[in-house]
Amino acid sequence: MIKTENLTKKYGAERGVFSLNLDLPRGKIYGFIGPNGAGKTTTIKMLCGLVKPDSGKAFVGDIQITASNIPKIKRKIGYMPDIFGVYEQMSVWEYLDFYGAAFKIPIKRRKPRIEEVLSLTDSSHMIDYQVTSLSRGMKQRIGLAKTLIHDPEILILDEPAGGLDPTARIEMRQTISRLKGLGKTILLSSHILPELSSICDLIGIIFKGKLLAQGTVKEISSSLQEKIVINVTVDSDINEAKNILSRIDMIETVKVLEQDALQCTFTGARPQIKSVLRLLIENNVIVRWFSEDEVDLEDVFINITKKG
Ligand SMILES: Nc1ncnc2c1ncn2[C@@H]1O[C@H](COP(=O)(O)OP(=O)(O)OP(=O)(O)O)[C@@H](O)[C@H]1O
Ligand SMILES: [Mg+2]
Repeated sequence: MIKTENLTKKYGAERGVFSLNLDLPRGKIYGFIGPNGAGKTTTIKMLCGLVKPDSGKAFVGDIQITASNIPKIKRKIGYMPDIFGVYEQMSVWEYLDFYGAAFKIPIKRRKPRIEEVLSLTDSSHMIDYQVTSLSRGMKQRIGLAKTLIHDPEILILDEPAGGLDPTARIEMRQTISRLKGLGKTILLSSHILPELSSICDLIGIIFKGKLLAQGTVKEISSSLQEKIVINVTVDSDINEAKNILSRIDMIETVKVLEQDALQCTFTGARPQIKSVLRLLIENNVIVRWFSEDEVDLEDVFINITKKG
């Protein structure tokens, strides 16, 4: 649904976005992740036709983003910028009506559409609030409602969870997942990887204008993880289990964590993990729990950007 080929925008030699190849399939949520200044907003603005690339191509569906296609692109895309720009002294209703008019939605259809987008973003109760009086969380909701007003197929959300408290972040994630359920294709940006991983089908990690990794969270984390950590809990002698594990070539270290729990580092390939479990069972160890340790996404992100 969104594809870029060597998309480039330079602000001097070091800053900007360089040869970006993004690929976002229809109906998926893509998390575009990178630290401050990585090039997320610049990329997003190029996709929305707000910044002209220096070179490379970008496509929205089968339409190439060119100056003459921008009006078509704008109908397809709902863009939520990272800053909520509002005219003062407007109510939420007037604010949404203004955008509805900008998208040339006929007056008769505007009222039900505004009610619909407010309901989709759980903000129906805010309809008469003054936009300048809204809290950060409320602004994000109304910003999202505005983004949905013309019923775009694609949503491009720049830092939708930025500045939100933990509860509002969870609610924002739920709303975004709901929009995916309605068939929207969604690209969202964040500088925090764990924040998005639960709702994203795919992630792309950008650093200093370059895409360093792209794939599912699992693919990216396992390609970067050097050693697999396995947690084992037993209902039999822990030292016996430790001795058995220590004799396995692919096990590098074994550490007893509690009287029934130990942790080991495994240097083999992932499909070979099951042979460790088999060996424990064959040696009469009563295994209550055997699992691969969750990858710390914070670490993955730091590792990727360090390598970059
Ligand atoms: N209009 C501009 N003129 C000059 N430099 C710019 C311009 N827009 C962006 N840049 C530079 O390009 C780089 C990428 O900026 P961008 O805003 O795309 O980053 P970002 O990933 O969105 O960061 P943040 O997380 O802080 O929002 C930065 O070094 C920024 O200073
Ligand atoms: Mg930005």
